[in-house]
Amino acid sequence: MKFIKCKELKDKNTDLKFGRNFTDYMFMMTYHDGEWDYRNACIKPYEPFVLDPSTSVFHYGQAVFEGLKAYKNDKGEVRIFRSMDNMNRMLESCWRVCIPAFDTEVVHNALVELVKLEKDWIPTAEGTSLYIRPFIIATDPALGVHAAKNYILAIILSPVGAYYAHGFDPVSLYVEEHYKRACKGGTGHHKVAVNYAASILASEEAAKRGYDQTLWLDAQENKYMEEVGSMNIFFVINGVVVTPALGGSILPGITRRSTVELLMSRGYKVEERKVSVDEVINASLDGSLTEIFGTGTAAVVSPVGKFGYKGRDYVVGDGNMGKITKYVYDELTGIQTGKKPDEFGWVERLV
Ligand code: COI
Repeated sequence: MKFIKCKELKDKNTDLKFGRNFTDYMFMMTYHDGEWDYRNACIKPYEPFVLDPSTSVFHYGQAVFEGLKAYKNDKGEVRIFRSMDNMNRMLESCWRVCIPAFDTEVVHNALVELVKLEKDWIPTAEGTSLYIRPFIIATDPALGVHAAKNYILAIILSPVGAYYAHGFDPVSLYVEEHYKRACKGGTGHHKVAVNYAASILASEEAAKRGYDQTLWLDAQENKYMEEVGSMNIFFVINGVVVTPALGGSILPGITRRSTVELLMSRGYKVEERKVSVDEVINASLDGSLTEIFGTGTAAVVSPVGKFGYKGRDYVVGDGNMGKITKYVYDELTGIQTGKKPDEFGWVERLV
């Protein structure tokens, strides 16, 4: 695998494969003796952790993470998007896997300081940004399944382009009938590492069938669309924008919520409700399904060109990016980069 040298990357602003390159500094804070050690929390050079082979996260996966982005425009202005929402969601994820709560203001301030320090790393080309990955891992050097007593909270930064290998071109999804990502009462509503481990086998099988990602169905009835894992999902049926209602097993995406709020405020009809695979297939067959798109921090707003179910393919619209998808992409990225006014108060300008 070829990693790009930091200097090269800073200068050239190109070849930004998702999550392969990291900046010079990171933030780190530990939890020990019953509390987060705010006093010794620091921004320090990016470097590996040294962990005992028995470290609990390696065995039982007690880990949570977040993803958000910093954007820089041609004038050198730096912005982050709804970042306190990420802090609050991480806190809720911690609760679900018994990681002690942290002070969201302290970690948010650390994130801001780190991004400001590393602002030269933020790429400016269309579709690029600085991906911010806060995460927490359990670090007890002991075997035995219980809530750990030691943790590391860290923030790392990665200059990125498009999440999917073929850029912002439409992706293909395989509607998975057999494996399940999440069920009500499980962890699917939270951003915990185990959700992603549980999704990899289906992703590999979807890739072997020639699809980019898995579109998950609900675990109870195997009939309702849920999400993609790397993004939430939206369907445009008869001109109405429909997205699966959050019911405990779907990640409450911040880009998802922003899309709903944006479209509603601009007069689009938006419905958050159950969407069955049969409804989507029928709409595809009678021509009323005109668009499908995914939303996520990494995926941004990603058009879906086709989906497969039970061995048959369904082309979405004309297979290209639809009008509403393009509108949401342009509006959200416009607000994020400062090209469009932020009437919602979503953006925090750092520089
Ligand atoms: C994000 O969109 O930030 C995520 O964490 C999704 C992950 C699959 C990259």
